[in-house]
Amino acid sequence: MKNIHLIAAARPNFMKIAPLYHALSKESWCCVSIVHTGQHYDPNMSDAFFRDLAMPKPHFHLEIGSGSHAEQTGGVMIAYEKVALADKPDWIVVVGDVNSTAACAMVGAKLWIPVVHLEAGLRSRDRRMPEEINRLVTDSIADVLWTPSRDGDENLKREGVPAERIECIGNIMIDSYEMLRGVIEADATRGGLGLAPQSYGVVTLHRPSNVDTREALAPLVESLLAVSQRVPLVFAVHPRTRKKLQEFGLMERLTGSGAIRAVDPLGYIQFMNLVTGARVVVTDSGGVQEETTYLGIPCLTLRENTERPVTVTEGSNQLVTPGSLVGALDAALAKHGRSGHVPDLWDGRAASRAVASLKRRSGVKA
Ligand code: UD1
Ligand code: UDP
Repeated sequence: MKNIHLIAAARPNFMKIAPLYHALSKESWCCVSIVHTGQHYDPNMSDAFFRDLAMPKPHFHLEIGSGSHAEQTGGVMIAYEKVALADKPDWIVVVGDVNSTAACAMVGAKLWIPVVHLEAGLRSRDRRMPEEINRLVTDSIADVLWTPSRDGDENLKREGVPAERIECIGNIMIDSYEMLRGVIEADATRGGLGLAPQSYGVVTLHRPSNVDTREALAPLVESLLAVSQRVPLVFAVHPRTRKKLQEFGLMERLTGSGAIRAVDPLGYIQFMNLVTGARVVVTDSGGVQEETTYLGIPCLTLRENTERPVTVTEGSNQLVTPGSLVGALDAALAKHGRSGHVPDLWDGRAASRAVASLKRRSGVKA
């Protein structure tokens, strides 16, 4: 019986481990445990996702919480090493690009426990992003690299990763969406806010480069206000961003006109209910760029680069600056119907490809 640890830490991890957890739970050759590092801990940044995605309480909880990059990465390493030594997993699956991802990958590599990276190969080529450092570290030491799209394979090959370690399994976040599509459609969040489909925009922002300084955040608030003159906005405010809006005295300015509704972070079902009815989405989130591409909803991404270029070349995403946001919005509003198309292997079956890969690599007969 192979013992598999799935590492989850922060909001964007939960919708990536859930389909894999459910698929592995049905297999007789393995047992699967969820290890929550505690990087995100507010009920609406963590518990809500376990509930929405029908996952059990984590089997191990490291309770690391917030801190500097070194505190968080080091804290996770120290705590997870103890768990890994005691529970002796045969595989450690890390997902995405958060500090806990790199920390647990390093623990596994040094204990000679095979590490799988789910969502490998993405590159923004911007080393000012903490996530880019986490991606580079994780991909350089992981034993198996599951990519969400072919550009990931190319990036890894260019960096010298042997081809046999790389497998394009597709985008597992789409599995979560498809698993809950009916529940998302039936959810009452949009109606509860009095919003008719296609009559509003959704906003999320949390990248340090956008929110951590007044110089970056104040012009963004002004751009969002200009957008809200054309289409009312619902802004699901990340805790990092709420802290900064309050610290810089910008919350009143943001919400004063009434055209921008600032709400707390939403659960997955509630948030996707809002997104599926949106005319446009304004974001700097990685996951939201992908979900809007899948749904064909125009997405304006407030970033200089993206590690998910297929969302721009194939999907409905466009990179914008605070200065170009309103022009891009007008162009998006002028178009009707679905934008872009869905990349290859974003089909709701990534988890089954991941299970087949682990089974084969564990030497279990099909
Ligand atoms: C982290 C990830 C980022 C990911 C994001 C998803 C890293 C380096 N960053 O960024 O890649 O896109 O999660 O949302 O791993 N806080 C709370 N409650 C919580 C969690 C955080 O109040 O449950 C506040 C704390 O003040 C904390 C701040 O948010 O200091 C930032 O949290 P942290 O996990 O360090 O980074 P994120 O910005 O959430
Ligand atoms: N999300 C959510 N509620 C929100 C905002 C986002 O459920 O209020 C979901 C979103 O649908 C996507 C994921 O969180 O699946 C993205 O997480 P986040 O933007 O925090 O991180 P990133 O993807 O940028 O690392």
